[in-house]
Amino acid sequence: MAEVVLGIETSCDETSAAVLVAGGKRRTPELASLIILSQDVHQVFGGVVPELASRAHLAALPAVVDRALAEAGVRLSAVDGVAVTAGPGLAGALLVGVVYAKGLAFSGDRALIGVHHMEGHLFAPAVEDPELEPPFIALLVSGGHTLLLDVPAWGRYRLLGQTRDDAAGEAFDKVGSLLGLGYPGGPAIERLAREGDPSRFTFPRPMIAEGGGGSYEFSFSGLKTAVLHAVRASDDLDRDRPHLARAFQDAVLDVLVTKLDRAVRASGYRVAVLGGGVACSRALIARAAERLAGTARVAVASPRLNTDNAGMIARAGWHRLALGERSDWTLDASADLPLPGLELAEIGT
Ligand code: KG4
Ligand code: ZN
Repeated sequence: MAEVVLGIETSCDETSAAVLVAGGKRRTPELASLIILSQDVHQVFGGVVPELASRAHLAALPAVVDRALAEAGVRLSAVDGVAVTAGPGLAGALLVGVVYAKGLAFSGDRALIGVHHMEGHLFAPAVEDPELEPPFIALLVSGGHTLLLDVPAWGRYRLLGQTRDDAAGEAFDKVGSLLGLGYPGGPAIERLAREGDPSRFTFPRPMIAEGGGGSYEFSFSGLKTAVLHAVRASDDLDRDRPHLARAFQDAVLDVLVTKLDRAVRASGYRVAVLGGGVACSRALIARAAERLAGTARVAVASPRLNTDNAGMIARAGWHRLALGERSDWTLDASADLPLPGLELAEIGT
């Protein structure tokens, strides 16, 4: 059983390391440090440039790991487990983390565990909320994924629905760029939407209706096109920008929260988990809490644990290490790693 786990995350454009230590009477994992270095270089390109990301990870990772250990007050010799994101993500970026983690594990005879990035996002609220336990419904919304999961137990993930085209975060980023807000679009749209009048524009709520096999599926690419048409039709974009941001955000959040609510009610569970970068949105959290009031508690991590970070990876790795799982020296980075324990199922089956 590992007592000190070092987490490493390099799947996209954040170089991150974190230390979890067994604490308290129940020896539950506590976050001792979390370092997140965001790669600013991509901002001038309006999106992540994979080759630049790999090089930046390579340059920064050793210092980021040292800093995480120093802030935790833990020597490398005390680390007995290393958890690293093995996929999905950018192949070259992932590889930097995996190779470094393997080196650390091999050199100190430490346990090694490869973690699925989205399982990390799922575990994020558990870092701050040790009482959080399945069963629950989880809505994971990031730049690459939109997943609605029924989670009867940690490690068992029944896929209720996912996106048929763009991920929710990807839609925020594309609309952010249509509105000239730079990358990433999500936080800028949320800020601007606060000044927007919700009645000025109305965008479609794709696939919001129940039934027809799409009750839990998502589609955001048509919505992005609707915003594009509205931007082209505008005679004063400076005047309309906050209203467009507001109408777009309202449409996305309405779809997300409607499907989350539907799944929670069908399951009878009392907890709903929000995870992934889009779960940094205070507007999303407020709407979910409002819609689920009296039905389920909304569990969500603080923003630094929702955007890509090694704390969530260490926590998911901790869970698997505690079950006795280990990765061996053949662990490889996989750009399209499938979520372990994923089952295709309807609620109640
Ligand atoms: O999970 P994450 O950090 O990286 C991936 O695994 O993709 O998610 C990043 C995504 C970006 O698309 C970003 O625009 C979105 O999360 N995001 C937000 C907000 N903050 C970040 N989307 C909407 N509102 C926000 N406040
Ligand atoms: Zn992520």
